Amino acid sequence: MKDKIVLITGANSGIGKAAALKFATEGYRVIMACRNMEISQAAHKEIIQASNNTNVHLMKVDVSSFDSIRTFCSEVEAQFPRVDILIHNAAYLNHGEKEYKLSPEHIELSFATNVFGPCLMTHLLADHLEKSQDPRILNACTTNIKNFFDPKRKIEFDNLRGEFKATRRYSAYKMYGDSKMAFLILTFQMAEQLKSRGIKVNALQINRVKLSKDTINKMNSFWKVLAMAQNITNPLPSGMADIYYSICTSDEFRDVTGQLINHKREIVQPSASEQGFAQFKNIFGSGTYPQYALDRDNADIIWHLSNELVYLAGP
Ligand SMILES: NC(=O)c1ccc[n+]([C@@H]2O[C@H](COP(=O)([O-])OP(=O)(O)OC[C@H]3O[C@@H](n4cnc5c(N)ncnc54)[C@H](OP(=O)(O)O)[C@@H]3O)[C@@H](O)[C@H]2O)c1
Repeated sequence: MKDKIVLITGANSGIGKAAALKFATEGYRVIMACRNMEISQAAHKEIIQASNNTNVHLMKVDVSSFDSIRTFCSEVEAQFPRVDILIHNAAYLNHGEKEYKLSPEHIELSFATNVFGPCLMTHLLADHLEKSQDPRILNACTTNIKNFFDPKRKIEFDNLRGEFKATRRYSAYKMYGDSKMAFLILTFQMAEQLKSRGIKVNALQINRVKLSKDTINKMNSFWKVLAMAQNITNPLPSGMADIYYSICTSDEFRDVTGQLINHKREIVQPSASEQGFAQFKNIFGSGTYPQYALDRDNADIIWHLSNELVYLAGP
């Protein structure tokens, strides 16, 4: 049994569940951080049985709610001596959703779940991570950010509380992409901020993985059909879970921080928006990400917003 503790958000389904099983099978102590206890209990039991590891703990958290995150982090601190690995896997993407949805703190739900919630959790658990010999954080990113190779694409920073809901049509897909780009920008900044404390922070550019039945059932009928068709050829979540495991445990990534890593375990490089074949290669390849993620102004805005919304929201 390894005496290492891994915390995975959204561990009841898809890649998160497969990752919880992988770490449990390898003998880690696993904290499954899930919002729906009823659904998650079945996954929890399944993982204990399949891994033969009873050190798998199911804990409740809604990562879109600051109050829930605060309660959860206090419980983690009380029950565990430290956290060695933190994987921000949970995400909100409700394909086909047409209405703006806001979190309890009135933040657009994709941004609350995919950016500011994980940011608060990182902030609150930083002391506990620092107690580890080799603390690592992994943020789930997506190839959707390649839409930012379009020079016209921008994060709607002015609409993160649904300020323009009367005049701007809601696109769950676009808001998801904006939130994941914002999270990548924050990954680079968190890595800088946490470097002196020995905490490594990277993001994984996930390309395509089979979606669970529950996730597909939340979609409208058009997206449901599309997702079921894509599921025929998409790889199983266990492959991506192995990559989570490799980035979070292997010597190869021990000193790597502030990087976007792809599904082939390669460091992804920034690239400017280009025209023609070069742009085509950037969009369909897995070796580059848009320079937009390194723009200083974007970094300042997102850092300022996260401080305002998360850190200054108080204990
Ligand atoms: N699958 C892909 O092809 C793909 C591609 C690119 C990126 N990704 C990224 O990979 C990660 C995992 O995706 P997946 O495909 O495995 O999706 P999934 O099966 O739908 O899992 C998402 C998980 O997030 C949880 N979650 C959502 N909102 C939450 C909240 N407010 N609080 C706590 N948990 C919450 C869900 O819980 P419930 O069960 O309670 O809803 C679920 O456990 C995500 O970050 C996603 O953006 C996936």
